[in-house]
Amino acid sequence: MRILVLGSGAREHAIITALLREEPAHDIVVAPGNAGIAADVRAVALDPNDPAAVTNFANLNNIELVVVGPEAPLVAGVADALRTRGIPVFGPGQSAAALEGSKTFAKRIMDEAGVPTGRALRAGSLAEAEAALDEYGAPYVVKADGLAAGKGVLVTEDRDAALAHATYWLQHGSVLIEEFLDGQEVSLFLLSDGHNVLPLSPAQDYKRLGDGDAGPNTGGMGAYSPLPWLADRFGSEQAFVDEVIDTIALPTVRRLAAEDTPFIGLLYCGLILTDAGIRVIEFNARFGDPETQVVLPRLVTPLSGLLLAASSGELGGMDRPEFSTDVAVTVVLASENYPGTPVTGRRIGGLDAASAVPGVSIAHAATSLQGGELVASGGRVLSVVAAGVDFDEARARAYEAIGRITLEGGQFRTDIAARVAG
Ligand code: AMP
Ligand code: GLY
Repeated sequence: MRILVLGSGAREHAIITALLREEPAHDIVVAPGNAGIAADVRAVALDPNDPAAVTNFANLNNIELVVVGPEAPLVAGVADALRTRGIPVFGPGQSAAALEGSKTFAKRIMDEAGVPTGRALRAGSLAEAEAALDEYGAPYVVKADGLAAGKGVLVTEDRDAALAHATYWLQHGSVLIEEFLDGQEVSLFLLSDGHNVLPLSPAQDYKRLGDGDAGPNTGGMGAYSPLPWLADRFGSEQAFVDEVIDTIALPTVRRLAAEDTPFIGLLYCGLILTDAGIRVIEFNARFGDPETQVVLPRLVTPLSGLLLAASSGELGGMDRPEFSTDVAVTVVLASENYPGTPVTGRRIGGLDAASAVPGVSIAHAATSLQGGELVASGGRVLSVVAAGVDFDEARARAYEAIGRITLEGGQFRTDIAARVAG
């Protein structure tokens, strides 16, 4: 198949790596990609957020499937433009992508679909925000309403800090004040063709910058899959997945279809397992990063067939995707000062030695070539992925590999998947 992948991060690199494993081989193009992805497939300088440019490129190059990695092209209407021209695209249209792009929209859909989520109040002024904070009490949860690249959420015991965060984001629109939910977090990805869903294997993301969940929220500093402790709580992983499908994913997909905004693509359910039950913290309209880097290496069923079936309304009656019993761990290497303005342009060394560790592959998140040298070009730079028969093996491999990589000022967590090891 001739496939165009839009995006430039480690998630897109992981998607492409999974597609490259298939036989017969696909012809894959990425736009715009990064230095690491460009070493594997052809990269083109095409603005992934420009619906007309993407559609014209797809037409001229006889693209048979477009896979949208990040949320920005979805919110910009790229999937709508492709679908209008009859080009299969994995990714929802602008209206359905509001499930991620607008927390107010997501809350309305959840309310109408009866999907369990935290109580929340929308505030358009500081006075409203203050009243809402005091209604729920500490710890305070303040969220920007629109896309904020993982930086829009503050969870804090400090009322003044909560108010300062609300004040900042109120300049850009409204904010949501939510009740605090306590429990383990799970990311569950579901392929949706607008009416039917198929689950991928659950993963857990580490959102905070530092070990022990200290420090600020980030885009994600590491992940692992599967989650062995789900079986302790739900009897089996499948029982958990079934509950999420029945109470969250299908009601949401049906509600969106009923509103004539079918969700075709990846429904990312960001969940918290509270004592009172499963609650949605957020929906995203695309694969998660870095969770994709640990879910897709374990996928046995060919990814391209699943994405094409979802894009073509053909998931109904298909078997659930199969996953290897091997586990996967990813540790993210980030630039100095991330998640603040990262220091970029620094040289990256040791990748060959790192990739030589058994079971290890390296997904590039933000790399470029400068004068023939590989340099860091963003906040999250690399996602070091390791497979293993168990989490001890996978962690040992991931940390051995990341230890061989040099990047001045580079930061990574040392406790990814520690809770499931040994
Ligand atoms: P979000 O961008 O909505 O996924 O939020 C980022 C992170 O903030 C989540 O992964 C949680 O760790 C935390 N968070 C968000 N909402 C809540 C909540 N209502 N209660 C507790 N933690 C939350
Ligand atoms: N890992 C969090 C996200 O992709 O939004």
